[in-house]
Amino acid sequence: MKQLPYLKNEDGLTTLYVDGAPYIALSGEIHNSSSSSLEYMKTKVWPNLRGLYLNTVIVPVFWELMEPVQGQYDFALVDGIIEQAREEGVRLVLLWFGLWKNGRSTYAPSWVKKDYQSYFRARYPGGAASDTISPLCGAAVEADATAFHSLMKHLKEIDGEEQTVIMMQIENEIGFLGADRDYSDKANKQFEEVIPSGLAALYSNNGNWREVFGEAAAENFMAYHYACAIEKIAKSGSEAYPLPMFVNAWLEQYPWKAGTYPSGGPIAKVMKIWKHAAPTICLYAPDIYLPNFAEVCEEYTADGNPLFIPEARRDMVSATNVFYAIGKHNALCFAPFGIEDFLATATNEDGPDFGIMMALNIDMSAFILNGTGPFLAESYRLLGNMMGIINRYRGTGKMTGFLQHHNSGCLLTFSKYDVKLTYKRQEDGKPVSGGLVIEISEDEFLFAGIGFSVEFLPKSGETDKIGYIQIEEGEFMNDQWIKGRILNGDEAAYMISVGRKAAALKVEMYKYN
Ligand code: DGJ
Repeated sequence: MKQLPYLKNEDGLTTLYVDGAPYIALSGEIHNSSSSSLEYMKTKVWPNLRGLYLNTVIVPVFWELMEPVQGQYDFALVDGIIEQAREEGVRLVLLWFGLWKNGRSTYAPSWVKKDYQSYFRARYPGGAASDTISPLCGAAVEADATAFHSLMKHLKEIDGEEQTVIMMQIENEIGFLGADRDYSDKANKQFEEVIPSGLAALYSNNGNWREVFGEAAAENFMAYHYACAIEKIAKSGSEAYPLPMFVNAWLEQYPWKAGTYPSGGPIAKVMKIWKHAAPTICLYAPDIYLPNFAEVCEEYTADGNPLFIPEARRDMVSATNVFYAIGKHNALCFAPFGIEDFLATATNEDGPDFGIMMALNIDMSAFILNGTGPFLAESYRLLGNMMGIINRYRGTGKMTGFLQHHNSGCLLTFSKYDVKLTYKRQEDGKPVSGGLVIEISEDEFLFAGIGFSVEFLPKSGETDKIGYIQIEEGEFMNDQWIKGRILNGDEAAYMISVGRKAAALKVEMYKYN
C-alpha cells in the first residue's frame, strides 16, 4: 500500500503530506444533513461546489445510518460519497458523527439511544438526564470505538490505494452543555477521587479534582474524560487504518462559563490535558465563528499545535481570513461552513427557517450569506494556483500575513525594507483587508490578498531613498507567474494597491542616494 497521508513536524513547522507532497486544504464543510442522501449530494451539493476552486470537501458520516442494527454495517453512503468526490476530483476530510455532535448524542443509533440503562446519560445537578451520553459510559465508548474501527477498516479496503479521504475528525464539537460537568452517579463518585496518576505527574500536584484544579475542576474533569473516550475511539480506528485524526472545538466565549460552551471540549486552555490523554489525536482544530479571528489563530498555534480550521464564518471575512491563516500561521486547512450555499442561486425554500431558529435561540451567524461565494472563489483560485510557492516559503520566516481588525494598517519588517500596509476602509458587503506577503529576495516581494496599499520605507536611521524597478500585476497558473499590467506612471506614483477582490502583485525595489 502506498504511504498514507501524514503530518510531519520539522523544526516546529507541521506539514500535511498527501501523495507524498505538502498539502494545504482549501476547503469548505457541508451542512450536517447533506451527506445523508447521495441524490441530494448529486443535485444540491456538488454542482454548487464546482466554481469554488476547493481541493478538499469536509463531509460528515453518521453512526446511526452506518450501524442501524448493532453489528450490521451499511457503508453504501460512505462508498457513494467517496465515489462522487472522486468524480469531482476533490479530496475528503470525513467527520465521524458518532457518540457526540455539538455536545449531544443525536447521531447515536436507535439501539444506543433507547438502551439508556447500558448507554447511560450525563446528568445535570439534581439528577435530570441530558441528551448527552456520558463520556464515563465505557459501554457507549466501546460501541462507538467498534463502529469507528469498522468504518476505518472499510475505508482501508476501498480507499487505501486512491486515498480520496485524507483525514478524519472524531466526533464534532465535543463537550457537555447545560452544566459544568456530568453529575451522573459514576461521575460524582470519580469527581471526589484523587486525579489519575498521569495527570498528577503532568501537573506535579496531587489530590482530588477540586484540590488540584480549584474553580476549573469541573471543566478539567470533563476534558480528561472526553479525551480518554476520544483516545479509545481514535486508537481503535487507527489500528484498522491510521489516517491522521483530529478533534474540533466550539470555542470558549461569552459568558465564559463551562457548560454555556461545551464543557470539556478541546478549547485552548484544556489542550494540555487533551494532549496528555489523547495521544492519537494529531491536532486540535478551532471552529472560528467569532470575530477575533487573528487572536484565535494565535491561541491555537501557541503551543506548536498546527492550525487547521474545519469551520469558519460564512460572511465576507472568510475570503480574506484564508490568506492570513496560511500566510501568518501556516494553516493546513481553511473551510467555511455550509459551503454548498456559497454559489447556490438562493431559494429560501431550501434554506433554514430563521423564525424557528430565533425562537429556539440558535446562533444564526452560521447561516448568513451575503454574496461571499464569488469573493471566496477568487481567493481560492489565486491561492490554489500558488500552492507550490506557498509550500516553498512555509516555515522559512520569509512569508507572513496581515489582517484588518478595526485598524488602519500595519508595518511589517523585512531584511532591507519596512513595508507599510494601509487597509481600505471597511465597507458593508465587501471583504475586509488582508493578505500574505513573501520576501522572495532582499529586493523582491510578492503580495497576495484583498484591499490594501503598499509603501516601502527605509529602515529606521537609514538615509537611502527607495525606488521601484518593476511593479507587476498578475496571477499564478500552476505556480507560474503570469504577468498582467506593469504598473508605472500614474498607477505607481502614489501607492500601489490591491482592490476588493483577491489579487497579486510582484514588486522589485532598490535603494539609492
Ligand atoms: C457548528 C457545528 O460544528 C456544525 O456542525 C454546525 O452545526 C454549525 N455549528 C452551524 O450551526
